[in-house]
Amino acid sequence: MCILITGGAGFIGSHTCVELLNEGFDIVVIDNFSNSSPVALERVKELTNQDFQIYDVNLLDKEKLDHVFKENKIEAVIHFAGLKAVGESVEIPLHYYQNNVTGTLVLCEVMKKHGVKKLVFSSSATVYGTQAKVPLTEDSPLGAINPYGRSKWMVEEILRDLYISDNSWSIALLRYFNPIGAHGSGRIGEDPKDVPNNLMPYITQVAARKREKLRVFGNDYPTPDGTGVRDYIHVVDLAKGHVKALGKILTSTGAEAYNLGTGVGNSVLELVKAFEETTGVTIPYEILGRRPGDIATCYASPAKAKKDLGWEATKDLKDMCKDAWKWQSTNPNGYE
Ligand code: UD1
Repeated sequence: MCILITGGAGFIGSHTCVELLNEGFDIVVIDNFSNSSPVALERVKELTNQDFQIYDVNLLDKEKLDHVFKENKIEAVIHFAGLKAVGESVEIPLHYYQNNVTGTLVLCEVMKKHGVKKLVFSSSATVYGTQAKVPLTEDSPLGAINPYGRSKWMVEEILRDLYISDNSWSIALLRYFNPIGAHGSGRIGEDPKDVPNNLMPYITQVAARKREKLRVFGNDYPTPDGTGVRDYIHVVDLAKGHVKALGKILTSTGAEAYNLGTGVGNSVLELVKAFEETTGVTIPYEILGRRPGDIATCYASPAKAKKDLGWEATKDLKDMCKDAWKWQSTNPNGYE
């Protein structure tokens, strides 16, 4: 059975390709490599000892996308491709809406044309309103606060409308919490192009002495140690969640959201401590003011994914730190 993976060269995409291949699925990958490297896919092939077709295609290019569907007997799509930097989305919102929203519209039009109506979409916990109570459940109130988050929210709504218009679609909206870590082999991992926005890649770059110290954004939140609390999830657990979601949509119809998180919240300083204890590397840090747009606490109730998908995260913070450090220390310049 052949699954199309959009954005398969990215951090979560590449790890999901490995899990799908290991589970016996055939895959076809499209990526425009705007924020990823083809080397990631070479490594996926090396890790799984399997080959697959790769297309350098932008989702906005409907003709080329159509061609991919003509050349392959695709049964379902896992749609990762999209832009994801919150700050950048505020600077260039049209570019974000064009890529994330229009890109998905084009994809769905081409899928529809070819009678492919099974889709797993990369959404985000960022779609939850900042006032929502933790743990977040799938019916917590929504309310994104920046163009990136709104693009994810809009796509969720569009996909629900699509299902309402035609009940033969089957769509899983996967709301990721904070994916970190890397494949246990150290061969694939997160490879931010510039200064990392996210916490873990920043920590690993400080550990590698590529950056002087971590900047902790705020220690006056209403949390146990004052720093922000998030639900960090190992990227391999997250990737396995996609395989489970795929299994679900292949055998049912609907448009359902699922939280993919661990259900456990950890603070910035807890993550720093776990990293230091696991790797033996000290992380110097300084406390700065709050980062605009951040909230105090965010973690999932993963109960629905457990019940409906038969999935739950199995790796802990130590696994996440160990694997993130293995990736960083054995690939000091990422895929370059
Ligand atoms: C961020 C995005 C979110 C996106 C997710 C993708 C924002 C406001 N949110 O989530 O929309 O879906 O990434 O992975 O950008 N921190 C530091 N120092 C750093 C970096 C982060 O102290 O250098 C803190 C943050 O204040 C936060 C925690 O670490 O408390 C996690 O931050 P981050 O990894 O950026 O994730 P989110 O902000 O949760």
